[in-house]
Amino acid sequence: MNRTLTCFTLLCLVLGGGLFASAPARGLDNGVARTPPMGWNSWNKFACKDVNETVVRAQADAMVSSGMKTAGYEFIVIDDCWQVGRDAAGNILADPQKYPSGIKALADYVHGKGLKFGIYTDAGTKTCAGRPGSMGHEYQDARQYANWGVDYLKEDWCNTLPGQSSEASYTLMRDALAATGRPIVFNICEWGSTKPWLWAGPVGNMWRATGDIQDCWDCKKKWGGNGVLQIIDLMDPIYSYAGPGHWNDADMLEVGNGGMTTAEYRAHFSMWALFAAPLIAGNDMAHMTPEIGGILLNKDVIAIDQDPMGIQGHRVHKDGGLEVWSKQLADGGRAVVLLNRGDKSAMIAADWRDIGYPATLPANVHDLWAHKDLARQTGSFSADVPANAAVMVRITP
Ligand code: GLA
Repeated sequence: MNRTLTCFTLLCLVLGGGLFASAPARGLDNGVARTPPMGWNSWNKFACKDVNETVVRAQADAMVSSGMKTAGYEFIVIDDCWQVGRDAAGNILADPQKYPSGIKALADYVHGKGLKFGIYTDAGTKTCAGRPGSMGHEYQDARQYANWGVDYLKEDWCNTLPGQSSEASYTLMRDALAATGRPIVFNICEWGSTKPWLWAGPVGNMWRATGDIQDCWDCKKKWGGNGVLQIIDLMDPIYSYAGPGHWNDADMLEVGNGGMTTAEYRAHFSMWALFAAPLIAGNDMAHMTPEIGGILLNKDVIAIDQDPMGIQGHRVHKDGGLEVWSKQLADGGRAVVLLNRGDKSAMIAADWRDIGYPATLPANVHDLWAHKDLARQTGSFSADVPANAAVMVRITP
């Protein structure tokens, strides 16, 4: 009897251990990014050539004066090109022409505004712009970043070695960051090339799901690459992998950079919020028109992105270019986007059964762009949606 019990216990332990070992890993538990990170990054607007400490300071000033900080944006992130080499001891060196005061002074300035500071590196030998990467210097660089006061690190994937493992490389940097003892948001940027949603949950706080965003609605039609429509199609099938501390990254926002109409930018922002994607502005916040400010500062849409349950929304209905997208919210409500990808305006209806409600359930509907309550609805909600545009509502039973 005893032997049988012991054998049974052992078998359970073995099987149980096996089960636990292969259970899907939970998100990275480094205490940060419990809701999708919000901030600004230099790349989409200033790229390599036009970014320097004066620009970055002005963006930090503007994040505060424009109301972006109050709306929830907090990270000021310098992308590629701040670094020029290493000293004899291997320490990474900032460009003395572009950052004459040094990175520590810039981080202090950003912190002085009540904001957080982010920086960029690469898992290969060189960054995408050919600056020194972190390969072989992971612990040294992580220590340096922590000493400077870095709160957010984006690590790119250019100039890696043939066969280099993305999972091992990013795990190395995760551990190097953890060893500093400083809470640092870790942004994995390998463009979705090795399906990071399958392995990066316990490694990074966010991972790029796609190649670089371009400032166009439908880039396939324009010059190729990933526009808003291409990215939303890539984000849809991976929605179940996102959650608090570990997010699918749809790339930085193009809102305000000039390549889309105001309605397209509104739809772009609506979809990123529905995805619970990081909201990293990529425009010049110091020179924002009121229309663009009205998009980036829309508190109701931001609240959808930042919903504490952290569920990524997905497509629930499609009829040609007319689509319904839904995101479950912590209060039992739904954020719904009616998206018209077509070239003429059309009525789109969200059926309650598609968003997980019984058809008989009455619900309040709040239009998040018109900023008004619509009539109470039962069974479905429909609206006329212009071409290349979205209507976004919050539905509360
Ligand atoms: C890659 C990244 C971009 C940007 C550039 C910088 O293309 O995906 O987001 O960081 O590198 O060189």
